[in-house]
Amino acid sequence: MSSIGKDIRKAAKILSEGGLVAIPTETVYGLAANAFNEEAITNIFKVKNRPSFDPLITHIASINDLKDLTSDIPLTAKKVVANFWPGPLTVILPKTAKISDLITSGLDSAAFRVPNHPITSKLLALVDFPLVAPSANPFTYVSPTTAQHVADQLGDKVDYILDGGPCSIGLESTIISFTKQTPKILRLGGLSTEEIEQVIGSIDIQTHSSSTPEAPGMLTSHYSPGKPLLVGKLEDLLKENIEKKVGIISFKKSFSAYINSVLAPSGNLCEAAQNLFKSLRWMANQPVDIILTEFVPNHGLGRAINDRLTRASCLPASMASKYKNYNI
Ligand code: TXA
Ligand code: MG
Repeated sequence: MSSIGKDIRKAAKILSEGGLVAIPTETVYGLAANAFNEEAITNIFKVKNRPSFDPLITHIASINDLKDLTSDIPLTAKKVVANFWPGPLTVILPKTAKISDLITSGLDSAAFRVPNHPITSKLLALVDFPLVAPSANPFTYVSPTTAQHVADQLGDKVDYILDGGPCSIGLESTIISFTKQTPKILRLGGLSTEEIEQVIGSIDIQTHSSSTPEAPGMLTSHYSPGKPLLVGKLEDLLKENIEKKVGIISFKKSFSAYINSVLAPSGNLCEAAQNLFKSLRWMANQPVDIILTEFVPNHGLGRAINDRLTRASCLPASMASKYKNYNI
């Protein structure tokens, strides 16, 4: 078992020697390595069992660090990062040779983010290299939102787990690509589309599916909780699965006759986002055969929550429309 602690200097030393450290961010925990050390980058793919065609996000200390790593920063990208960094936003920009092809899976663009977490900000300031960090979960599983989640799944494969408490947002960053004439959202996440549109106006969303070569990692099979999961109108799903041992993840209503986790009794979408991955993990460990869940209101962080639920479900996204109580 790797150790869990709050020693930022120890983390910096391990990273500078080519080791792997799990780091807290406001979105989810990341599995970090020195972005300038190719052996360490290769180890990330091994430890996560991640296919090499799925590129990594490079985490930097501040906007200034983009200078050497990108060849062009369009004006809209400058505007967006000026507004939302540090924060739950990743931007895709043309890369320079300083970013290894191992990071980008051979693409000529790379993903960058300045995370907003006091411990990781201190760590980034302490080291003299950026950190590549995918979410610290085995490939296709739910992302970790506590240090213990990382220890449970990757404990023996990580050199150190830096504990920054539970993640305040609980969903991965929103990814915007600036590689084409018009910007495009490739992954819905912790920064809502509405907030982005307030700064740059209307923006296209082109998320999911393995057939989107621009977001190679956004496979529809991501976010598996490890048990079959259905998403739809809970009362209908309950009737249809009457003979099974069901667990229910509901938005705000409680279902006390069942094993139940309520995401946000108050109906607050930020609270629901914080609890989503924790709930999925908890439910997967309960004595249930199948997890039934429902979509949340489809605005603000609700859109990213609904996206994750669709991906976690065993229904193909195209069939999720069978259940008409939502509007994705
Ligand atoms: O919140 C987050 O973004 C977390 C924390 C740790 O920062 N990280 C995270 O990383 O979610 P990961 O590796 O699980 O997801 C990164 C996504 C992948 O879907 C990958 O395909 C996409 O970013 N990506 C990376 N580089 C890309 C590129 N050049 N073009 C398009 N998509 C890219
Ligand atoms: Mg991930």
